[in-house]
Amino acid sequence: MQIDDQKILKPNNLTLITGCMFSGKTTLLIQIINEIAKYSREKYEVFTANPTLVSKEDICLQTHGGVTFPAKTVVNIEDIQQYLHKDIEYLIIDEVQFLSHAVIEYLVDQIQKQDISVIVGGLSLDFRKLPFGSVHLLSARADVIVKLQARCSICNGPAHFTQRISGDRIPNIHEPVLDVGGVDKYTARCYKHHQISGLSHDKNASEKKIEVIDHLISIRSIAKTAMNYGASQDPHKLLYELERYSYIYKLVNECLSQVVSIDSETVFELDEQLSFDDTYVTPKIATAYAVYDDLDRVLLVKRKDLNVWALPGGWADVDTNAIGNAVRELSQETGVNALQHRFVGVFDVRKYQLSESHRDATPIYLLVFCGRTTSIEPIPNYSEVSNARFFSLDSLPKLSAGVQIQIVHSYKVLNGEYALFD
Ligand code: TMP
Ligand code: MG
Repeated sequence: MQIDDQKILKPNNLTLITGCMFSGKTTLLIQIINEIAKYSREKYEVFTANPTLVSKEDICLQTHGGVTFPAKTVVNIEDIQQYLHKDIEYLIIDEVQFLSHAVIEYLVDQIQKQDISVIVGGLSLDFRKLPFGSVHLLSARADVIVKLQARCSICNGPAHFTQRISGDRIPNIHEPVLDVGGVDKYTARCYKHHQISGLSHDKNASEKKIEVIDHLISIRSIAKTAMNYGASQDPHKLLYELERYSYIYKLVNECLSQVVSIDSETVFELDEQLSFDDTYVTPKIATAYAVYDDLDRVLLVKRKDLNVWALPGGWADVDTNAIGNAVRELSQETGVNALQHRFVGVFDVRKYQLSESHRDATPIYLLVFCGRTTSIEPIPNYSEVSNARFFSLDSLPKLSAGVQIQIVHSYKVLNGEYALFD
C-alpha cells in the first residue's frame, strides 16, 4: 500500500491505521517504522498495547504472517511518559484498541504539546461490530486515517469485520470482548457473512429457541420423574408406560442436542449443559399455598398418602418459578385460585419428619406462600387428594407434621408480619 510519507511523518500529526483483523495494519505499521528508522535513528519509540505481552520477554509487534519488530508494552500513561523526552520525534503504538480512554486522551494531548508525530494501529470494531475501546476517539482527532480491508474468508470479497470463531456456534453479543488471539479465534468477514447472535433484531429467533428449550426441558423432566417413580407403584400396568417414557426421554435428548449442538449420545454432558447436574447434592424444592377465604378460614387438603390434612402443595416442576408452582398446585388440587400473593417463609421439611419411614432421603426446602381467594366451594381433585375444605384457625383438623407452624405464620404474614426462615 502506498502512503503519503510526507503527510504522516510531519510533527504534531496523528495517524490512525485501522480496519478489521487480517487487514494488514501491523504490516503497514512495520513498513512505516522501517522508513522512520532509516533517517531517525534514536528518535522513535515503538509500543504495543497487547495486554498478554506485558509480562513477556522479547516483546514485539507481530503481523499475522510472522513479521516482527521489537517493541515495549504500554498499559498506563507512565509507560509512555518516560519516553517523551525532547529528542523524541515519533511515537508508534500498535493494538491501540486495548488502551484505556485516559491513555488515549493523554496521547492526543501530547501531540499538541510536543513536536511529535504519533502513528497508531488498531482495530476499529470488535467482534460484535461495535467500536473497540476508545479507537473512535482517535479517529475523531486523527489527521490521517488509513482504513484497510481484508478478504472475507467465505466469499473472498472485501471484508471490514472480524468474525470470532467458537466452533459451530455463532458468537453471542454478550460474550466478553477481550479475547486475544489470531487465526485460531478470528477470521475476516464481509457484511453479508459476518455473524453474531443476541442482537435485538435477532430477538424473536432467540426467544423462540429459548421457548423450545424450556418446553423440551419440561417434557424431559416429566419423563425422568416417571422413570424414577413409575415402576414402584404398579409394576404390571406401568411397565409399558416406563418404556414409553424412556422413548420420550431419548427423543427429547435428541431434540435438545439439535438445539444446543451437542452430541446426542452424551446424556451426561447434556445434563451438565442444562444444569441437571446429579453430581452436586442439593436440597429439593417443594411449594405450598395457604389461601384464606372472606371468613379468614384456611383451605386444607387431606393427603391421600398420609391420610392427614396439609396445605395444598407439592414438588416444584422445572417449567415455572416458585410462585407459579405454588399457585398451580393449589388450583390443581382444589380448583381454587388465589390473589394477593405473599411469601410466608422457607421451611426445612425434614425437621418435622420424625419417623424414619416418612423421612425423605434428601433435604427439602418448602417455600410457603399465602393469599386470599373469593372462591367459596373448593373442588377437590380426587386423583391427588381425598378431600379439600376451609377450616377456621381455632378448629384445625389433625395436621401433617410441621403444617401447624406454616398455617400460624401464614396468617401473621397475611396481616403484615415478615417471612419466616426456620
Ligand atoms: P490484530 O488487529 O493485530 O489482528 O489483533 C487484534 C487483537 O484483538 C487480537 O489479539 C484479538 C483481539 N480481539 C479481541 O480481544 N476482541 C475482539 O472482539 C476482536 C475482534 C479482537
Ligand atoms: Mg496486528
